[in-house]
Amino acid sequence: MSDPRSVELFARAGAVIPGGVNSPVRAFRAVGGSPVFISRAEGCWLYGADGARYTDYIGSWGPMILGHAHPAVVHAITEAAARGTSYGAPTEGEVVLAEKITALFPSIEMLRCTSSGTEATMAAIRVARGYTGRATIVKFEGCYHGHADFLLVKAGSGAATFGVPDSAGVPEGIAKTTLTAPFNDVPALEALFAKHGDDIAAVIVEPVVGNMGCVPPAPGFLEAMIALCNKHGAVSIFDEVMTGCRLSAGGYQGIHGLNPHMTCLGKIVGGGLPLAVYGGQRAIMEKVAPLGPVYQAGTLSGNPIAVAAALATLARLDDALYTHLETIGLQLEVGLRAALEANGIEGCVQRVGSMITLFFTKGPVTNWGQASASNTGRFAIFHRELLARSEYWPPSQYEAAFLSAAHTSEIVARTVVHAGEALRAVAAS
Ligand SMILES: Cc1ncc(COP(=O)(O)O)c(C=O)c1O
Repeated sequence: MSDPRSVELFARAGAVIPGGVNSPVRAFRAVGGSPVFISRAEGCWLYGADGARYTDYIGSWGPMILGHAHPAVVHAITEAAARGTSYGAPTEGEVVLAEKITALFPSIEMLRCTSSGTEATMAAIRVARGYTGRATIVKFEGCYHGHADFLLVKAGSGAATFGVPDSAGVPEGIAKTTLTAPFNDVPALEALFAKHGDDIAAVIVEPVVGNMGCVPPAPGFLEAMIALCNKHGAVSIFDEVMTGCRLSAGGYQGIHGLNPHMTCLGKIVGGGLPLAVYGGQRAIMEKVAPLGPVYQAGTLSGNPIAVAAALATLARLDDALYTHLETIGLQLEVGLRAALEANGIEGCVQRVGSMITLFFTKGPVTNWGQASASNTGRFAIFHRELLARSEYWPPSQYEAAFLSAAHTSEIVARTVVHAGEALRAVAAS
């Protein structure tokens, strides 16, 4: 149950903002009740409108890997703002950022900054289409790549949460240019290439899916996807908006030495400000205007404040951070699994690094068909009981929870205790 001030704000918001929120999943529809309105955040803590403190496992849906209001990031933002908030002209910071990202991600030889992950994936697809001269794209069921028309086909995240994986307002002709296959299914992808190989411009994937809950790739799946793209002259696109800089400083591809043709980044790469990136092989990126014929632009792209936050954040992505995240991630995983077992509840815990999901289905979950078999009623009770214990867990079965540098072993241990109590309530329901 949310606090009275948040309930009042949500009622006011509902009169002037659709569903009372600026992004659907924030409305708590999948779990019931009223969302907590946030007044401030620090470290791993969020403070509600009434000042109550919550342990944050959403981290603004991924960006806050250093924790909220990290002093170095706040300092960088403040300093940058004092020098002016937007110039609409190039800056040294953008060059430094691009050099830093191309060093972290060897597969990215050139890149562009955008203001959101949606813009990054949308632009990457346009560039891939311009580069190949083909129209068709392939995505995987349950993967979410932002809200561009042609990517809202069998999409995960909020689209899956609200049962609108195929959004109204997307013309049939546009939706038809998107083919889908189940995640982790190489034969299905091979079959699409066998039938449409000459038309496929790009295949886009979340290398570790976060948007149907945390679902890792099967061994060899991503390698096969890249190989099929190579064989058929299509562009492989890793959407690392969520995983980039989270699973390692160089993303999931950095851990496994994978070389997609293009990559999209967002969330962490913008240090909590509106900044995202698309980039890839030089020959592909040279198609982008003014070098080439593919148009893409943005008034606030490479915004100096966002670039300052990005640089301050990237400077702090060291080995010690990822070791810490792995340690507390494992602690949370083991604790949640034990709590499921102790309460005799059918479920599974899936984790990659600091991304984790407790699915209310037997598991393992390897694709959207299995994820969507989860007992969302049980998840709603779990979420409500956690919130009542000041644990701010994602309000949907189909979202990953995130850990940050600011979460300590003690904090996670307390969350595990609370999760055990929440699961007891689920078992009793
Ligand atoms: C994998 C992935 N791609 C793209 C996006 C879209 O990013 P944005 O919300 O910044 O438009 C998201 C957002 O959650 C995402 O998780």
